[in-house]
Amino acid sequence: MKVDGTHYRSIWFDDDSGTVKIIDQRWLPHAFRVVELTTREAFAEAIRGMWVRGAPLIGATAAYGVAVQMGIDPSDASLKETWEFLHATRPTAINLRWALDEMNRLLLPLPESERHAAAMKRAAEICDEDVECNRMIGVHGLELIRNIAAAKAPGEPVNILTHCNAGWLATVDWGTATSPMYHAVEAGIPIHVWVDETRPRNQGAHLSAWEMAHHGVPHHLIVDNAGGHLMQHGQVDMVIAGTDRTTAHGDVCNKIGTYLKALAARDNGVPFYVALPSPTIDWTVFDGVKEIPIEERDQDEVRKVWGKLEDGAVSRVQICPDATPAANPAFDVTPGRLVTGLITERGVCDASREGLAGLFPEFAGA
Ligand code: MRU
Repeated sequence: MKVDGTHYRSIWFDDDSGTVKIIDQRWLPHAFRVVELTTREAFAEAIRGMWVRGAPLIGATAAYGVAVQMGIDPSDASLKETWEFLHATRPTAINLRWALDEMNRLLLPLPESERHAAAMKRAAEICDEDVECNRMIGVHGLELIRNIAAAKAPGEPVNILTHCNAGWLATVDWGTATSPMYHAVEAGIPIHVWVDETRPRNQGAHLSAWEMAHHGVPHHLIVDNAGGHLMQHGQVDMVIAGTDRTTAHGDVCNKIGTYLKALAARDNGVPFYVALPSPTIDWTVFDGVKEIPIEERDQDEVRKVWGKLEDGAVSRVQICPDATPAANPAFDVTPGRLVTGLITERGVCDASREGLAGLFPEFAGA
């Protein structure tokens, strides 16, 4: 998607420097910084420290991390260590394991001399596949928005609430939850987006609002607690969220606070959709609440916030007493029964075993 008129992906191989580059998301929206990653350690730090984040982008970054390491040491031992090293960075998003397994599946049978080139090629393909999945999510999600628009007065916008950043910055391009929104704008359907700020790290305020502004999508930033009120007053036509891991039975794990939005949506008859590419489905787990590991992050993410001071300097300030401890579960699980539909690259389905199996029969038996 575009930044000041120039098209960017969130991660790419730069032919001129021969390195992998990323947008360092820690500084957005106040500064746009591109950095190169040249070692396995740098890739791990970029994922763990959330320079890159969002399930699909974490997977793509890990794939390139393996590929770069194959240029340094293509041995079996190095491949195994790299899988473990990168896998330990963030436990919840399943795209990480998916991408690492994908690289192992390809590389293990190859002679060491062929591994680097093959790994770089596959990492680039994983990025391209993510872009295409997200484009198709947009094509299918657009029809949902179009149907809601058709029931409204001409010119009246479809009000969409979204949580966290499931935008192009969370993927390689297009985003998952945002792809239907960007497609609607391109199709000339009026929309307006309620952007949850998404404490503690404020991915909505920092990243989704920045994306929307760069793409001319009408939006308002809201505090995380405003959604229920807006739904009660008919100001939300649909919710579209992303997911870090969806079970084979349709339970959706996503950024903390998503579950509360789903409950409010159900109470108010607001359709609650989740957009996801198929690598985000974990076919090996069924009960999301019991089986998905929830990342517990540093308590300082809750105790402190980043922002721009009056003098323009970007700084972090503490918002609680010095001695106050904080808990910081980063994700929650929304049971499939609260989800109106899953928007995938193959179409929209029920958030259930039957729904997912109908679209992905080749995986559902696994
Ligand atoms: O902790 P983050 O910023 O990696 O969490 C990201 C989310 O929860 C996104 O909504 C999710 O990964 C879907 S991304 C397309």
